[in-house]
Amino acid sequence: MRSLPDWLVAEPFTDIDLGVLKSGKEAQIHVIQRSDDTGRSCIIARKRYLPREVKQKGTLEALGVQRASTFRHDVEYREGRQFRKTRDRRAVERMSTYGKRLLQDRWTGHEYEIMSRLWKAGASVPYPISYGEDTFDLEFIGDTTSAAPQLFAARLAKAELASAFDQVYQGLCVLMAEGIAHGDLSAYNLLWWQDQVWFIDLPQAVDIASNPQGLNYVHRDVVNICTWFDRKGLDVDGEEVFAQLLCEM
Ligand SMILES: Nc1ncnc2c1ncn2[C@@H]1O[C@H](COP(=O)(O)OP(=O)(O)O)[C@@H](O)[C@H]1O
Ligand SMILES: [Mg+2]
Repeated sequence: MRSLPDWLVAEPFTDIDLGVLKSGKEAQIHVIQRSDDTGRSCIIARKRYLPREVKQKGTLEALGVQRASTFRHDVEYREGRQFRKTRDRRAVERMSTYGKRLLQDRWTGHEYEIMSRLWKAGASVPYPISYGEDTFDLEFIGDTTSAAPQLFAARLAKAELASAFDQVYQGLCVLMAEGIAHGDLSAYNLLWWQDQVWFIDLPQAVDIASNPQGLNYVHRDVVNICTWFDRKGLDVDGEEVFAQLLCEM
């Protein structure tokens, strides 16, 4: 069993928000300093999910395709997983006001749960600390002076690129063994820090066994990331890697 991180300051603690690290379409990442009264402190990342407005029928389209497709995306990701009650599933499929609220509510704890499963299985994911109504606290990857760069922005030498690919493959093996599809894997959702690759951004991850689209997501993820490595000069073929990965199931 993986032992709990010793850097994490336990209760009672005080959190100080040091500011926003990244602000995206779906979430904002804050850097938090957590201290206890013995003078111990640590840095954590706090992901704050941006509110998804629940709109009356008709106004969704007025907000533009972008948002409408985000909602459609949710349905696709979530079918077969969360909404076992027929009434709820129908509401989500119809995108009724009630359905949209269901999606919003289920979103937050999901990333925490997926990351917990992967962390326990030994994957290179930040340690998931806790979650609240619209926040998720997790291990901060970086140090007191800077945050880990996303893989796409890390300037990797050839040998590092090969090592990064091996690590991504190892990570995908753990995901496969756990039956989880990341669903949005790219060089933007991988971090590079001290020669190590970290998998992040998992709110859309699904169970491969219960989601009819599960394997399609794995396939898309693998092809995506392999195409990136290939463009960087590493000779990898997404279809081959996918086939190899299927053997890990
Ligand atoms: N635990 C973390 N440690 C350091 N940086 C992080 C961490 N989590 C996220 N980030 C940074 O914040 C960005 C956005 O986080 P992410 O989880 O990908 O949310 P989204 O892409 O949905 O906004 C990441 O690309 C990364 O640069
Ligand atoms: Mg992201």
